Amino acid sequence: MRLPGDKSISHRYAMLAAIAEGHSRIGNYSTGADCASTLGALESLGVRIERDGASVGIAGRGLEGLQPPSAMLEAGNSGSTIRMLSGILAAQRFPSRIGGDESLSRRPMGRILGPLEAMGASIAAREGRFPPLEIRPAVLRPIDYTLPVASAQVKTCVLFAGLNAAGVTTVREPVRTRDHTEIALREFGASIDVVGGAISLQGRPRLEARQLEVPGDLSAAAFFLVAALLVPDSELRLEGVGLNPTRSALLDFLVSIGAELRISNPRVEAGEMAGDLEVRYSRIRGGTIEKELTAALIDEIPALAVLGAASQEGLVVRDAAELRVKETDRIATVAENLGRMGVQVEVFPDGLRVAGRQRFCPAALDSFGDHRIAMAFAVAALAAPGESTIIGQEAADVSFPGFFALLSEIAQ
Ligand code: S3P
Repeated sequence: MRLPGDKSISHRYAMLAAIAEGHSRIGNYSTGADCASTLGALESLGVRIERDGASVGIAGRGLEGLQPPSAMLEAGNSGSTIRMLSGILAAQRFPSRIGGDESLSRRPMGRILGPLEAMGASIAAREGRFPPLEIRPAVLRPIDYTLPVASAQVKTCVLFAGLNAAGVTTVREPVRTRDHTEIALREFGASIDVVGGAISLQGRPRLEARQLEVPGDLSAAAFFLVAALLVPDSELRLEGVGLNPTRSALLDFLVSIGAELRISNPRVEAGEMAGDLEVRYSRIRGGTIEKELTAALIDEIPALAVLGAASQEGLVVRDAAELRVKETDRIATVAENLGRMGVQVEVFPDGLRVAGRQRFCPAALDSFGDHRIAMAFAVAALAAPGESTIIGQEAADVSFPGFFALLSEIAQ
């Protein structure tokens, strides 16, 4: 099977193409609603975009060519859209407003407001820290900023703001996060140095249009990998999946707990690694996810929690307080759904412990409007002897329209 284009990479390519000079084409652009929100917001800023299935043409307007929007920019459910785009909006000569749905309106923006304001931005937020954001015109100065939370979205926001600041902007990461922004900036022609955990960007570069292909989304693959590892006799081949080393901790972790997994046809395109994955049903030991590993697996924890319940020793997740400020409080929503399926789970402020050797009972489940919860529990439902229902299954469309059709196809 093939997966939609990587969500993280799609957002970055679209935003950079919009402020580059010339016409970019992005193949296998994520078909999810989140990445459509990014395209919609860019169109509202005067960027001409042609869609042809998953291929997107973007007429770049250059670093200073965005136009004032006539209404509030809509980020929908997408934290990436609001946080990353705010870095670009904060340096414009025009004011803008950006907001989103009910879930996004509860997500913390203080983490981007701090560094942006230190760069000279002027932004008002609801209650000082929630969307919508009201961004006033400003001239930004570069910054040397150490991230207080491990967040690739915040790193990206600051680097995107640094594109419009004269001089060198440096972001220091105590814990390494996904580096798609660094790779994409280099591909579009920016001058960027990475030394240890310090990323330095020369401001005011001339960005040039590119033809790019987005690899399949490894975080979407996670649901199918877990499905194959849960259901006896499964064998699955996933083609053209992104294998960027800052994302592929998932594969190392799965192998370390007993998964039979093989990578073939490795390749590098536009600085991003990709390859094919083969997985087969395996006896999973279980294990612990903590410290830097938690940050590296943050989007995969709902799926891994489901796998943990079927493992020999269960799964412990710690240092994962960030999960509480995702599309839902994913510690609570994972625990709630596991509980409904009769799986023993203990909740901590920063994680959970899922008992091993559990049986999944069919249950009435809820996505709580969160795409990864909808998909993780669709996979759990596969392992239950009988029919489960998921309220709000359409949440999967945020990153993976067609997920349920594909799952039923492979589950035949
Ligand atoms: C993302 C970073 C992560 C991740 C999100 C996508 C990105 O969020 O959870 O799905 O593309 O940079 P944080 O930066 O909030 O950790």
